[in-house]
Amino acid sequence: MSDDIQSTLHETRVFPPADDFVRQANVSGMDAYRALVDEAERDHAAFWARLARENIAWRKPFTRTLDDANAPFYKWFEDGELNVSWNCLDRHLDTQGDKTALIFEADDGTVTKVSYRELHARVCQFANALKAKKIAKGDRVIIYLPMSIEAVVAMQACARIGAIHSVVFGGFSARSLHERIIDTQACAVITADAQYRGGREMPLKPVVDESLAAGDCESVHTVIVYQRASGETPWNDGRDIWWHDAIAGQPAVCEPEWVSAEHPLFILYTSGSTGKPKGVQHSSGGYLLGAIMSMRWVFDYKPADVFWCTADVGWVTGHTYVTYGPLAVGATEVVFEGVPTWPDAGRFWKMIQDHKVTTFYTAPTAIRSLIKLGGDLPKQYDLSSLRLLGSVGEPINPEAWIWYYKVVGGERCPIVDTWWQTETGMHMISPLPGAIPAKPGSCTLPLPGIDAAIVNEAGEEVHDQHGGFLVIKKPFPSQLRTIWGNPERFQKGYFPAEMHGYYLAGDSAHRDEDGYFWIMGRIDDVLKVSGHRLGTMEIESALVAHTHVAEAAVVGRPHDIKGESIVAFVVLKGARPAEAEAAKKLIAELREWVSKELGPIAKPDEIRFGENLPKTRSGKIMRRLLRAIAQGQEITQDVSTLENPAILDQLKEVVR
Ligand code: WT7
Repeated sequence: MSDDIQSTLHETRVFPPADDFVRQANVSGMDAYRALVDEAERDHAAFWARLARENIAWRKPFTRTLDDANAPFYKWFEDGELNVSWNCLDRHLDTQGDKTALIFEADDGTVTKVSYRELHARVCQFANALKAKKIAKGDRVIIYLPMSIEAVVAMQACARIGAIHSVVFGGFSARSLHERIIDTQACAVITADAQYRGGREMPLKPVVDESLAAGDCESVHTVIVYQRASGETPWNDGRDIWWHDAIAGQPAVCEPEWVSAEHPLFILYTSGSTGKPKGVQHSSGGYLLGAIMSMRWVFDYKPADVFWCTADVGWVTGHTYVTYGPLAVGATEVVFEGVPTWPDAGRFWKMIQDHKVTTFYTAPTAIRSLIKLGGDLPKQYDLSSLRLLGSVGEPINPEAWIWYYKVVGGERCPIVDTWWQTETGMHMISPLPGAIPAKPGSCTLPLPGIDAAIVNEAGEEVHDQHGGFLVIKKPFPSQLRTIWGNPERFQKGYFPAEMHGYYLAGDSAHRDEDGYFWIMGRIDDVLKVSGHRLGTMEIESALVAHTHVAEAAVVGRPHDIKGESIVAFVVLKGARPAEAEAAKKLIAELREWVSKELGPIAKPDEIRFGENLPKTRSGKIMRRLLRAIAQGQEITQDVSTLENPAILDQLKEVVR
């Protein structure tokens, strides 16, 4: 095993859940957890079938649980029929129609509450508006909206009519949007005139216009625009329609489209090892089951909870734990448009106090930045409503964990450190809070029915305390079904031959003496910057698209708030700028360029110029060497194969 996957963490503190939490928990105590794990081990398919029958309202019950004839293209509950939106809305109307479904807090603090009955009516109306635009089952719809009630409505409305949504995060560029429109061959784009973040207004509709003007977007016949700001935006009469005009006169009831459990619910793009993002395709039945079970097991959902997941619907976390999971179990949830640091770093704590949030789920990067900006601020707010905290997106360092536990949770709330991925759709490895004792920095043990293991390059299991590749040995209902339009990439990337049919997650991990999993990081060229997944190749191709750039290599460097920062090594077509001023100007230009090409989240933190890049004889860029250089480490590796070792000195130079 390479040095990369040797563990360096030595955290030994253990935090068992408090007795009163255990007593009320959905999965109460280790024996209850083990009973579920054992049930799944005895008969994997029967375990999931039981849960699917008990937790999903089927229009037509399934008779076949798992079809693995064409593995890894698994099918779950395929002859069962359901509608995901019906499961999230209609089934609650008789029992709790007046319960608040969404508490929406806008960037400026305005609060809007929507009951299940109202949300149902809004989803139906918008679903009818989509149908009026001839959007039908199987059609792809791009959603490029800010966090809003409308974003949830748009996703649910697509699900209601069987259209496949693909949400594009509002921070992505026109080019990224364009790429996704073409790859999905979408027929419609749902957007807003603008979005607000931290008091600033940023245009959205003009970005859509720019993408559609870039060519090859003939598939798009409709653009629906939600008015979030002034409404002043360029207009294309035959194509564009305001949201309020589209729903005018539409009835507030809409018979759902009953679909097979295998019908695709959505496609969500994520970064991989190549320059092209992959469209992760999820199912309806299996995905919904994963969302529901993790709400119950991991978030210990109770009807009186006020649930708040801070993620944007542009990411999978916002799909599973904003749009689908909470509504499927009938929760009251907070939906937040703004940012954690505006108007000040007390925003999260004030919102928890104001809305009496019980369950709070956020990312380590947010926690670290809030510690830095005001580690004592939570003490100024009444956070006594909280009973459970969650973390997602990257490993949480023990220091941040302890702060979260003590200062936010008052040493009263368990923390669920949830390991999962866009591809898995639901939590895979996480404490069940009323059962599994936590260790800061470890995501602990797999969920029942999730057969996680650590293997070496040959797919053989490695034993405790050895690092290796994280795999999931058995299929599970919420896993991705394929990569949209690229089944080969799906098969090769996630089920490579040497892994014996195991799902290869792309992370390295090790297990400690208690069998707890510790995630060590990605094994591919994927970075985690502020919890966002970025492919180094995507950033490299964006850089190379600039007229002055001949070649580029991008690596990550540990960063105390963002987790990782982006360092780019660039070879120019001409000579390197001799003057510091000229170099600085070019660096600024290249950073802006990447921001424009991919989106601000992909902007390199640092750019260095060299006359060449360190490569092996076969021409492969020596990334490990570049990572060491980026971190300012002594170079201990063999560099004798380098054609021109002098370039290493150039690449060590940082322009200041
Ligand atoms: C990658 C997946 C999980 C939904 C949001 C991100 C890393 C995620 C954890 C965690 C350590 C984590 C992994 C994984 N990751 N959660 N609790 N501890 N690492 O989804 O963008 O698909 O990223 O995020 O590296 O592979 P994603």
